[in-house]
Amino acid sequence: MIPAIRGTHDILPAEVERWQRVESVSRRLFERYGYAEVRTPIIEREELFAKGTGETTDIVQKEMYAFTDKGGERITLRPEATPSLVRAFVEHNLEQAMATAKLYLFGPMFRYERPQKGRYRQFHQLDVEVFGVSDPAVDAEVIDLAWALVTELGIPGPELVINSVGCPVCRPAFGEALVASLGSDVSRLCADCQRRAATNPLRIFDCKVPEDQALIDALPHSVDYLCEACRVHFASVERHLDMYGIPYRVSHRLVRGLDYYTRTTFEILGTNLGAQNALLGGGRYDGLMKDLGGPDRVGIGFAAGLERLVLALPETAGRQVGPPDVFVTAIGEPARDVAFQLVRELRQAAIRADIDYEGRSVRAQMKRADRLAAPLVVIIGDEELSRGQVRVKDMRSGDQVDVARTEIVAFLRGRAAAANK
Ligand code: HAM
Repeated sequence: MIPAIRGTHDILPAEVERWQRVESVSRRLFERYGYAEVRTPIIEREELFAKGTGETTDIVQKEMYAFTDKGGERITLRPEATPSLVRAFVEHNLEQAMATAKLYLFGPMFRYERPQKGRYRQFHQLDVEVFGVSDPAVDAEVIDLAWALVTELGIPGPELVINSVGCPVCRPAFGEALVASLGSDVSRLCADCQRRAATNPLRIFDCKVPEDQALIDALPHSVDYLCEACRVHFASVERHLDMYGIPYRVSHRLVRGLDYYTRTTFEILGTNLGAQNALLGGGRYDGLMKDLGGPDRVGIGFAAGLERLVLALPETAGRQVGPPDVFVTAIGEPARDVAFQLVRELRQAAIRADIDYEGRSVRAQMKRADRLAAPLVVIIGDEELSRGQVRVKDMRSGDQVDVARTEIVAFLRGRAAAANK
């Protein structure tokens, strides 16, 4: 058998119920907070992410599934959704169509990373974005939504971490402060960090090399270099979070691995997830839309990895498709036709019905009904049929009763409703 590609995974019946739970809880929540769903293509032009996510990010430099298509265009499988949503917002002039531009998206993303627990090459995100609102109250609302999501899912021990990475006014001075603080120590950092120090010093915080961490921990904090406007903004975000009683920790290391962030950045970390413990992450990106050639509109949002939310869900048994309400068996050919018709009628009447397709012996059919744990079995035999009847067996009590063929759907609907109560 040809195996699946490394870093991809199938979502099997045993776990799909947990996925559906995450999806339905999030959808309900997004709609309560006023978000509308958007679905964008999985393939986009490579330059959307080169420009949007950022040329100096690991995602663009190392992880993109990019290729030249048969028409000679550079295409990439999206590594994240934010640039796609910005593109769709501008391309379809959603600003005109929506009172407040609040969008959400579910879908697969692709990054050529080293696979491990919670980290895949094809993974799934839920992503929310708000466009055009710069008030810090909306930063707090987006963080509140992220917090509500993990708490409504019952994920134990979430930790909210926030930071402010400033704006184009104060960022350059902070970058200089980072380089100045490192001084000649820069040559002791890994090759990636030496490159980062020259091109985009903020990216040094993305470094995962263990030997570099002591030096990086001692670097200056972006919150100490904020301009007045960014300082006031961040203080207001904190004030709102305090007002809502949402606990958080400010971390100077939280610069996030994408280039577009300005001001607020945040992540919610989970426990028991190993090294890949970020359940979700996001922040404000006030220059992105303009940088991509759109109008000068600010934005803020976050994305969560669905795999990680599913992993972090509390341990309640994942339910597969439940047993049928009724299993229909048939003895002889004419009875089989009636059985197939009956199964169809039952399903149309919203009753979960199943049947044996292989025309096996009655014994084998009953065995299958037993394996499926069907509480009721309909037995259709030539003798009953000639009387216009079918037999219903209660598998728990063993009781049997003959019911008119014309009455059977109503009879079973009543029994199934009583059993499902
Ligand atoms: P990100 O931090 O790159 O941000 O990804 C967000 C979340 O996606 C992570 O916290 C993690 O749960 C999940 N994730 C990322 N990479 C993988 C992977 N290889 N395997 C499994 N899960 C993964 C963004 O993507 C931004 N677009 C978020 C955002 C929206 N910022 C503003 N708006």
